[in-house]
Amino acid sequence: MSNRTFTMIKPDAMKNGHAGAILDRIIKEGFRIVALKQTKLSAEKAGEFYAVHSARPFYGELVEFMSSGIIIAAILEKENAVASFRTLIGATDPAKADEGTIRKMYATSLGENAVHGSDSDENAEIEGNFFFSGLEKF
Ligand code: TYD
Repeated sequence: MSNRTFTMIKPDAMKNGHAGAILDRIIKEGFRIVALKQTKLSAEKAGEFYAVHSARPFYGELVEFMSSGIIIAAILEKENAVASFRTLIGATDPAKADEGTIRKMYATSLGENAVHGSDSDENAEIEGNFFFSGLEKF
């Protein structure tokens, strides 16, 4: 089991001014920041990141949304990071997310749900490497 996961603060949460509160919560929950940057995905890069969903009906909207504004990308470290972070962010649909989770508190809708969290150790590694070089991880 790896102790790292990858996250993005998505354009809705950035535009709504929640980035500081979300990062504060992540740190208070005991995650160490290994790498962090503010950036913006082109539609092409967003499509590549979410290629696994390319056959799904929501893919076009997802790519459009994820390339619609600035995001924060980060690699996080904690014991059992992937599962622990998925618990912290809550269900994909904020209406179904538990009270106190980041998506319950800050997400806009199912499609615009404030944060990303990797769903496996393998994807955490792939996604972290999508945004960060070895020289940017500490
Ligand atoms: P998914 O990987 O299933 O969820 P999660 O982000 O919780 O791992 O889906 C990726 C993103 O696609 C999700 O965060 C929001 C969007 N999405 C929709 O817009 N509609 C949907 O029906 C689903 C399942 C996801």
